[in-house]
Amino acid sequence: MNKTIGLFVGSLRKESYSKKIAKAIAEMAPEGFIFKQISLENLPIYNQDFDDYGLAPEEYLKFRNEVKSLDGFIFITPEYNRSIPGVLKNAVDVGSRPKGESVWNGKPGAVFSSSPGNLSGFGANHHLRQCLVSLNVPVMQQPEVYLAKVHEIFDENGKINEKTLEFLQKAVDAYIEWFGKIAD
Ligand code: FNR
Repeated sequence: MNKTIGLFVGSLRKESYSKKIAKAIAEMAPEGFIFKQISLENLPIYNQDFDDYGLAPEEYLKFRNEVKSLDGFIFITPEYNRSIPGVLKNAVDVGSRPKGESVWNGKPGAVFSSSPGNLSGFGANHHLRQCLVSLNVPVMQQPEVYLAKVHEIFDENGKINEKTLEFLQKAVDAYIEWFGKIAD
């Protein structure tokens, strides 16, 4: 039976570099794995009242069921103000509730970050890791994936250069190998 790994992108921007990286990663799934992009487009901002009063929006239920069906997660995120973009934090929060019913629990994750500057999304990468500790999502330690000057990895047709693709492929391979060791 195939294992399904969800790809979560921390940007809604049409021309998002993170989206393009996720698209390239989606094609790197080895035999026995499916890489599935999970949309965060229409997820309302988390409000605990929705869960406390049984009013969870349809989008929450759909998202939680979708995440529940996954075997692991790869997060591909830019950095907003030295942290993760709200869209990704919101998705993390929505999936984490109702209390005791987190759909993230125990499944292996990886965090890939990027930025047009030199900081490579380091702050976002590690803030997300902090959230994942609390959600009991073990996170691949090595290789760490920080892509600096991300706008320079694409050619005029939006294709990622060979060197970066090789690096991403190595990171994906490492994730798959590690996943095999720790997943149920
Ligand atoms: C940014 N950007 C940014 N970049 C960075 O390296 N560190 C940061 O703290 C921030 N902060 C930040 C805040 C906000 C609100 C925006 C909109 C942008 C720039 C960001 O890295 C750049 O816009 C990326 O292109 C966003 O990623 P996508 O949309 O291309 O995936």
